[in-house]
Amino acid sequence: IFGTIPEAPPDAILGLNTQYRSDPSPNKVNLGVGAYRTADGQPYVLPVVRRVEQALADDPSTTHEYLPQDGLKEFCNLSASLILGAHSPAFADRRSVTVQALSGTGALRVGFTFVARFLSPQTAVYIPKPSWSNHKNVVVQSGLPPAKEYRYFDYGTGAVDINGMVEDLTAAPAGSIVVLHGCAHNPTGADPSHEQWERVLQVVQEGGLVPFFDNAYQGFASGSLEEDAWSVRRFVDAGIDMLVGQSYAKNMGLYGERVGALTVVSSEGGNNEAILSQLKAIIRAMYSNPPKHGAMVAAAILGHAGMFAEWEEELRKMADRIRDMRQKLRGALVKNGTPGNWDHIVNQIGMFSFTGLTAAQVELMKNKYHIYMTSNGRISMAGLTEDTVEYVADAMKDAVVS
Ligand code: LMR
Repeated sequence: IFGTIPEAPPDAILGLNTQYRSDPSPNKVNLGVGAYRTADGQPYVLPVVRRVEQALADDPSTTHEYLPQDGLKEFCNLSASLILGAHSPAFADRRSVTVQALSGTGALRVGFTFVARFLSPQTAVYIPKPSWSNHKNVVVQSGLPPAKEYRYFDYGTGAVDINGMVEDLTAAPAGSIVVLHGCAHNPTGADPSHEQWERVLQVVQEGGLVPFFDNAYQGFASGSLEEDAWSVRRFVDAGIDMLVGQSYAKNMGLYGERVGALTVVSSEGGNNEAILSQLKAIIRAMYSNPPKHGAMVAAAILGHAGMFAEWEEELRKMADRIRDMRQKLRGALVKNGTPGNWDHIVNQIGMFSFTGLTAAQVELMKNKYHIYMTSNGRISMAGLTEDTVEYVADAMKDAVVS
């Protein structure tokens, strides 16, 4: 009975890791998945994370008991404060419910399942065009109709197509979910300005839309945890119904530990117990309860002023290295005379650069130079090092002129 199951296509991002690993070339460079790498191209465990892990391992009171379905309470409270702000009106009015989630993807998955069950299984979901390639998968797997796209990026100017975005969202039916990247839009690295966010908020409010903020890069866009939460906090202050997903994969480097949170913010309080009970029921049937280790690490850092400050310093360093690589890549492309304007590489923010390379050019980079990036021309800036930046720039030149 399993013999006729068709093979699924490889994942647009994770599939590249598999190809990269099996490539024997000594020159190979992985600019695919968004994972921070050190100046030597190595994975990075934040020193403050390492210390907390050691302390947990040495603490005889550390156990491997189950967490409840909604996860570690302290972690949930601290996560909600991190994204909404410690003095959020949502806390004062008891309008928010937070559960631990399996990183950002898990937050989306639980959130969309909740939408399908308690709004409607026909709820329309709008995602930006382009968006993180997994958004559309999660929407469908959660039992909702295929996601629709709203205009987001102007390929001519390299900026947010705010007029197109507002026009498309104005046409969305009331009650639709709008996926918004809180900061450091993936893959374009182009975020709305504060004024543009105000226009988005207005159309969301007037049209009765429900935002679902995906926050995978808090601290990576501007280097400031506060500034990167501005959009979410502005929408919460407006008192609307919304969902907020968070991930600690990038900003604490806890990728494989799957540490994240989902917060449901209601326009009116009064139903938190019911909302929490339903989220717990969804989680119980999906994976019972979330893993404990990463949440304990994150909670220890978030809840301790000294370690929090150390974490912020680490974040700034990671963001700085990425910005430095942007300058170096642009510099190398200018120096080697690659045709075109490469200013967008330094103007974009977050972990990625949306280079503008076509799918055919991306193929050439892979086949001829063993440089891996997603087919939409996105590169993970953190995958570049001083040693590889010129090699990559020269390969880009060849791809552009070929
Ligand atoms: C990415 O976009 O590369 C990251 O968010 C990793 C992932 O899971 O796709």
